[in-house]
Amino acid sequence: MAFVAFEMERYQSTWEHQVELNLSESGVHPATLGELMELTGTTTDDLAALALEYIQSNGGSELREHIAAFHPGASADEVLVTSGSAEANFLATWELCQPGDEMVFMEPNYFQIHGLAENFGARVQEWWLQRRDQAWEIDLERLDALVSKRTQAIVVTSPNNPTGARFDADTVDAVIDAARRVGAWIIADEVYHGAEIDGNESVSFWGRYDRLVVTGGLSKAYGLPGLRIGWAVTTAQMAKKMWARKDYTTISAGAINAHLATGALVPEVRERLLARTRRILQHNWPILEAWLGERDDCFDWIAPAAGAIAFVRYDLPLDSLALAEKLRSEVGCLLVPGAHFRMPDYLRIGFGPPEARLRDGLERLARVVDPLRAEQTHQACATGC
Ligand SMILES: Cc1ncc(COP(=O)(O)O)c(C=O)c1O
Repeated sequence: MAFVAFEMERYQSTWEHQVELNLSESGVHPATLGELMELTGTTTDDLAALALEYIQSNGGSELREHIAAFHPGASADEVLVTSGSAEANFLATWELCQPGDEMVFMEPNYFQIHGLAENFGARVQEWWLQRRDQAWEIDLERLDALVSKRTQAIVVTSPNNPTGARFDADTVDAVIDAARRVGAWIIADEVYHGAEIDGNESVSFWGRYDRLVVTGGLSKAYGLPGLRIGWAVTTAQMAKKMWARKDYTTISAGAINAHLATGALVPEVRERLLARTRRILQHNWPILEAWLGERDDCFDWIAPAAGAIAFVRYDLPLDSLALAEKLRSEVGCLLVPGAHFRMPDYLRIGFGPPEARLRDGLERLARVVDPLRAEQTHQACATGC
């Protein structure tokens, strides 16, 4: 079978450092090393003294204990530290997914596990969120119909990328019931957990079901994507199996990154990092929402609950790949075309940058979008208004 590429990552990796304004990111603008050192009380002498050795390859015990601490009832041996949540997703999928297996995969979603499962020879059953007016509706009957004895795992992302929507407790329980009925695993990607705009922590799958891998990391809710630190929290046995696979991938996280991550997840520092993210989200979302509101003849959207992303439907005479390319090439502004989530009349707009950059980005978008809107109105009038 032909290799299934991860189009969104390829597009972002190709362009995000080439454009003047990057609105393709799903997290808030990252903290600097200096900010993190100040928050953690790390000095340059501390860093200079750090041995650049291989660290404990499943993660040092202090780091794993910090991660376990915000997964109630978990212990450090149920935690595997990985290189980003992307590696945790990779290892969980690799462990769980054999050729011929079926995976039920929530859509729209970050494509990673979908593409990986297909590359590992599994069959992916898509479970789509339905857009209904002002909500992303969750079709639990459809989930029940898709889950069968062949289902090896149900894969969900809550809070979700790209919609920013999150499951309530009843939905989490219903997904678990569907998995329990057939003995399937759940991979719950919770990397946006803690990045809720209203500050109300999302319901976690953790602690509600045994055959569960929760993945997460420092990239989104903590604003530290460059540390490339993530984790899987699961049973001790599954953590060991995934660790055995990690011997073949990255062995261990980088020593400097793991050291800084250990400081970042000390409870008081963790709270401050999460508060920083919330501040940025609460400040920036109204800026984007006002910009969209001025153009509600062509955009409609459901306010995200979490993450620095809005998944916005538009009505313009260009498909999302062409529109994203026009924005990138004409005004140097990158965002993610909905086609990368197989929703071609959508755009994913990131609102995590510092305010001045966000406003600059939106002005640039307006330079392309507004003439297209005017042209569309003109044509509509010419044909009968
Ligand atoms: C849902 C989801 N999972 C995982 C990742 C990978 O993130 P990282 O490896 O930086 O933790 C992303 C990145 O955008 C994401 O949106």
